[in-house]
Amino acid sequence: MSYHGASMAQLMTFDPSVLGDILAFHVEAGVDVALEDAPVNRFAAAEAARARGPARGAPQQSATPVSAPASALSRPAAPHAPAPSGGMGMGGMGAGAANTFAAQPPDQAVMAAREMARGAATLEELRAIVDAFDGCPLKRTATRLVFADGNPAARVMFVGEAPGRDEDAQGIPFVGRSGRLLDLMMAAIGLDRTQAYIANVIPWRPPGNRTPTPQETAICLPFIRRQIELADPDILVCLGNPSAQTLLGVTEGITKTRGRFFPYDTGTRTIKAIPTFHPAYLLRTPLGKRLVWRDLLEIEAALATP
Ligand code: URA
Repeated sequence: MSYHGASMAQLMTFDPSVLGDILAFHVEAGVDVALEDAPVNRFAAAEAARARGPARGAPQQSATPVSAPASALSRPAAPHAPAPSGGMGMGGMGAGAANTFAAQPPDQAVMAAREMARGAATLEELRAIVDAFDGCPLKRTATRLVFADGNPAARVMFVGEAPGRDEDAQGIPFVGRSGRLLDLMMAAIGLDRTQAYIANVIPWRPPGNRTPTPQETAICLPFIRRQIELADPDILVCLGNPSAQTLLGVTEGITKTRGRFFPYDTGTRTIKAIPTFHPAYLLRTPLGKRLVWRDLLEIEAALATP
């Protein structure tokens, strides 16, 4: 986090009593990961571009957009050190760490992911392969891999979109507020984490919880597909629209697809898949729980048939 380029010395000229407030503001805004070794003053870059004037033939508009923190977070991959453990820091965090990530064109990364996923014979092997995979830029900013939780032998598998801050800190899917609600949803039909397997389409936290790009999703897709194939559940529950659309190839939105069973070809056999609302959506829209209750009853009934 660069505080828009303020150096540590500049920061220290602030009234120290407001530094905590500034930090809290950035955390609230979702800026909770350090991407650069040194602060970048984007206001200065914009000023310099304005001072240079418009490039010849360029349209008459601001030459260099002033980046908001969020756009800084979604910059395309450049070789970068992994985010420090804990994910939170001031501009200088991560200095001295090795640059371990080489940029790879997304189509090559997708092909590499497919190849590597095919090579995994067990879930443990797959976890190790995903952990070693450097083709997804999200790995650069995530603290750690968030592969799975629960019982891989369970008959039901829940798949969300991507880990959030709590999951990134612990390396376990659905452990934050959404996770607590997911536990309650499962408990409503007599399930706990010993009777369900839980994962995400994307196994690394997108910085600031931004939406994963289509490229990032495409790169991670072979891994979650193989994970489902190896876990071999009878029922796949897609939590939220991104999970449903990515895994089931449906184009309709979640309000249309939820509560319906779709065939899902694991690569070995066809199982039942059912989309339902994501617990994060339910936290914002408690009225949706009525519909999710119906979906849970469908899942319970499907599990009652061998
Ligand atoms: N949301 C998700 O989609 N997955 C998690 O693991 C946590 C929150």
